[in-house]
Amino acid sequence: MSAEPPRRRTAILISGRGSNMAALIAAAQGPDYPAEIALVVANRPDAGGLERARGEGVATACIDHRPFGRDREAFERAVDERLRIDQIELIALAGFMRILTPWFVRRWEGRLINIHPSLLPLFRGTHTHARALEAGVTEHGCSVHFVVPELDAGPVIAQARVPVLPGDDEGALAARVLEQELTLYPQALAEVASGRVALVEGVVRRS
Ligand code: GRF
Repeated sequence: MSAEPPRRRTAILISGRGSNMAALIAAAQGPDYPAEIALVVANRPDAGGLERARGEGVATACIDHRPFGRDREAFERAVDERLRIDQIELIALAGFMRILTPWFVRRWEGRLINIHPSLLPLFRGTHTHARALEAGVTEHGCSVHFVVPELDAGPVIAQARVPVLPGDDEGALAARVLEQELTLYPQALAEVASGRVALVEGVVRRS
């Protein structure tokens, strides 16, 4: 009997509707997928993704950031504790709208990835689609990257591109990018979970 390689226990952190989360959960249902979605954590009780995750039979936790006030690290310690209890090995941020402190990022360095709706290094931060339209770019897209302490500045693992079309508004462009995100993120998580892509001394190494 040949032993299956162990699947990396992965947590997804969300704040909202969770469409990327749902794509990762669906991909991880494949028999050969190298990650298992073991936990979904939301920082908001009204995050729509929580219900979606439960519907897929995935364990969920809601750790509301508000009682922690300005103490970001105290909130992160609560998240970190839950991740450790659940023996999580990898974290995928998917529409998680909290800036993480260097304490948390360093703790999970190389095991913490994010999807960002722009072709990084362009348009770090929020409102990326509106800013892309405003800048008049002809191409836009999304990036999956390792998380480093500086916001949206981590080494890029994978990107997908879309054209910006005449007449596009923010919603149309966001929808075109999101369609790509839902394919890109499962592929990128698989590369990290299988070890084909790793962060080594601050640089993405592929093998
Ligand atoms: C996505 O566009 C993601 O790139 C960004 O926030 C959005 C989250 O959407 N970080 P969803 O919650 O995955 O539907």
